[in-house]
Amino acid sequence: MNSLYFDYAVLGSGIAGLTFALEAAAKGKVLLISKTNLSETNTAYAQGGIAAVLSAVDSFEQHVQDTLTAGAGLCDEHAVQWMVARAPQSIKWLQQQGIHFDSEPDATIALGLEGGHCQHRIAHVKDHTGLSIQQALSKAAQQHPNITILEHHMGIELLTQRAYQETICYGLRVLDLEKSTYRAVLAKAVVLATGGSGQVYQHTTNPTIATSDGLAMAYRAGAAIKNMEFFQFHPTALYNPASKETFLISEALRGAGAELVLPDGTAFMHLYHEQGSLAPRDIVARAVYEQMHVHNSPCLYLDATRLPAGHLQKQFPFIYSKCKSIGIDATVELIPVIPAAHYQCGGIQTDLQGQTTITGLYAVGEVACTGVHGANRLASNSLLEGVVFGRAAAAHAALHAKQRFTCFKSIVYSLPDTCSDACVSEIKTEVQSLMWEYAGIVRTTEGLTIAKTKLAELNYKLEQCGTFSAAVQELQNMLTTSSLILEACLTRTQSIGGHYLAPDSAKLEPELPENISAVCL
Ligand code: FAD
Ligand code: SIN
Repeated sequence: MNSLYFDYAVLGSGIAGLTFALEAAAKGKVLLISKTNLSETNTAYAQGGIAAVLSAVDSFEQHVQDTLTAGAGLCDEHAVQWMVARAPQSIKWLQQQGIHFDSEPDATIALGLEGGHCQHRIAHVKDHTGLSIQQALSKAAQQHPNITILEHHMGIELLTQRAYQETICYGLRVLDLEKSTYRAVLAKAVVLATGGSGQVYQHTTNPTIATSDGLAMAYRAGAAIKNMEFFQFHPTALYNPASKETFLISEALRGAGAELVLPDGTAFMHLYHEQGSLAPRDIVARAVYEQMHVHNSPCLYLDATRLPAGHLQKQFPFIYSKCKSIGIDATVELIPVIPAAHYQCGGIQTDLQGQTTITGLYAVGEVACTGVHGANRLASNSLLEGVVFGRAAAAHAALHAKQRFTCFKSIVYSLPDTCSDACVSEIKTEVQSLMWEYAGIVRTTEGLTIAKTKLAELNYKLEQCGTFSAAVQELQNMLTTSSLILEACLTRTQSIGGHYLAPDSAKLEPELPENISAVCL
């Protein structure tokens, strides 16, 4: 890195960070920072696709309505309308960056169906849409003369100062994970695009980078955080006790005709919701969780044998070969599935231009709470949000970002002694189990209160454990985010969307009622 001074410093190289970087690079110098390699992001794992109104039978009104319904009435309707109206042009923008969505014989984009959508409106690249987007945008960023890329660097803290009534962000401190040194980066605009926080849960579809670093950094700097009680659980992660990795079985498979079934092969989702296996995700995840308990089964099953011959291999090659690799031929056998933490619906509060409550600090993508997801995100609206808000934030920053620093001494620090990895990994496992048990798919006030006390003990344990390292910082960020989730859950005393509160004694032993739908809905 030749210079420590940039127009824009972007933390995170998923769809949101890359979109911001590519748009902003037309107006100034961008530093793009990634914790591991450029392409290890949530984005790269996205399967189903990206939602947009692209067919004549669909309309913005219907996409808006589906989003509001999934969000259980807690979306910001204006923000939803604003995003939905920009979806078709975002797809065009992605195509201009080199993404080739699957197409129909007449060359129009082929549209898939997912839960909560009343129309086919999911643009996709087979079942590896995210990887295709990640590869194309990463390549464009690598080739751009105005973008400097720093891989294996971790954002540690935001540099801010108070001026009158405002807090102003003028840079951030980054840790070089290979050299174990850290230094300051200064910029007119700092952009947090660090993704979600799935790693706070024991079972998650998210990769290991998803430790909510950006959210914790923003919280420590005083930014407003919103809606953290609304964590989305995906109903169909592959159940594979032989592996620690959690692989997603895309909802698009249900959109293509696969059905959730009990261990004896009986379909049951129609008992919970008229849209059956394609009901909004919070409802399906709770139903799966409940039926696992009722049948005392470690998993339920997805029946993809109902798909037309050859469809699974052709349209879902990743899923087909992943199942094959663990000995399941999904064309003739049921796929074992469990729910897993998937998406952080809340986050750093922003406006439509990605501005946080701190001047000079933007947040885009999953780390942000723009208001479009409310209490539960509609499937495939997340990649869309990353592009729409990434572009809007870049346009805003180009017009409004100002140099806020005059003189800053650049110092490179070395890390002090680090604490033991064993200690960190032990506490990390405890946090993940605690959050899964008490702040997972079904919560109780009693359980949330227990979790709060236990989390304080884990915080204390970490303090005793040692000094500073990247692993300690990540764990600290996870503890901060867990605490924000627990506080938000305890504050919202009514069940809504992704936040489901059962009566205190109900969680451990759910009973099968005569009318099943009365329990979850
Ligand atoms: P990410 O893509 O997660 O990128 C985060 C970036 O931040 C990474 O580069 C990471 O290294 C970096 N980072 C984090 N912390 C630091 C730090 N301290 N310092 C430096 N860098 C840091 N959504 C859809 O709309 N459609 C789908 O089909 C879909 N499928 C999904 C399937 C799976 C398995 C998963 C996990 C998610 C899926 N989602 C889907 C959700 C969607 O993929 C994510 O919400 C979205 O990709 C998030 O993009 P992002 O740019 O905000 O963050
Ligand atoms: C999936 O493909 O099931 C995930 C879609 C999403 O999270 O939007």
